[in-house]
Amino acid sequence: MDPERTPNGPSDGDRNFTGPTGAVARFGARLEAMSTPTTTAAAGAVDAVKVYGKGGTEVRALDGVTVSFERGKFTAIMGPSGSGKSTLMHCLAGLDRLTAGKVFIGDVDVSSLNDKHLTTLRRDQVGFVFQAFNLVPTLTALENITLPLSLGGRKPDQAWLDQVIDAVGLRPRLTHKPTELSGGQQQRVAVARALATRPQIIFADEPTGNLDSKSSAEVLSFMRHAVDAFGQTIVMVTHDPGAASYADRVVFLADGRVVDEMESPTADRILDHLKRLGG
Ligand SMILES: Nc1ncnc2c1ncn2[C@@H]1O[C@H](COP(=O)(O)OP(=O)(O)O)[C@@H](O)[C@H]1O
Ligand SMILES: [Mg+2]
Repeated sequence: MDPERTPNGPSDGDRNFTGPTGAVARFGARLEAMSTPTTTAAAGAVDAVKVYGKGGTEVRALDGVTVSFERGKFTAIMGPSGSGKSTLMHCLAGLDRLTAGKVFIGDVDVSSLNDKHLTTLRRDQVGFVFQAFNLVPTLTALENITLPLSLGGRKPDQAWLDQVIDAVGLRPRLTHKPTELSGGQQQRVAVARALATRPQIIFADEPTGNLDSKSSAEVLSFMRHAVDAFGQTIVMVTHDPGAASYADRVVFLADGRVVDEMESPTADRILDHLKRLGG
């Protein structure tokens, strides 16, 4: 398969957010108003609200978030602890439901799906990378990478798998169990596993949070490569300006709202920005 191709094919974008009526059309108009090209969004949220609890203990984790993630780009999400970063990713990925508003993966309105379709969407269209690796300890690196395919009853696209395995640089370690791998190697397996199904989008929630700087660099370089060489779309939460500088764009959250964004970030510019946001 052509490595320059986006994970879901170049024509997919043409039908994104272009439904003639209803919420999809309104979402498209809204994104146009934000001067984001509607044809390249892999996922997005419109007026997303998430409230946890009730009455006195109510927490407004998302307070009207409108954001879109361009296809084939690497976006970092930054913001103070409790600002709603994980909640936004979970709702975008269909792991949790919004209280109000809408989320989209490609041209699919995630909020409208029943549980069965949500499960299929999560399995086939979305990849996850968590801070704690979440590999299956009894399986080898290769078995972990192909697990989403086996679970979905899908035959691996061997040419694609070979590309991912070569890019992740773990071919000599494929028969090793997770405990026989370093943290950085385990997290690279987790990213390779997320890539295996060629999802529309990969969400990574603080993927380098448990790693030393050398291992972090390995994982971040691999994610950057997946975007540049495979056209993968990645959204990553991080606290680390150095990690965020691998991204094409940074979206800043505070108190459940998007408060700013930055294109072509550098670690220094992010640090300056965080100081100013912090007042
Ligand atoms: N399952 C939950 N139940 C109740 N409150 C929650 C739950 N998950 C998150 N919250 C609250 O929502 C807010 C946003 O949390 P979160 O999205 O985890 O923030 P972040 O990832 O930016 O640290 C916080 O105040 C948090 O305590
Ligand atoms: Mg979080």
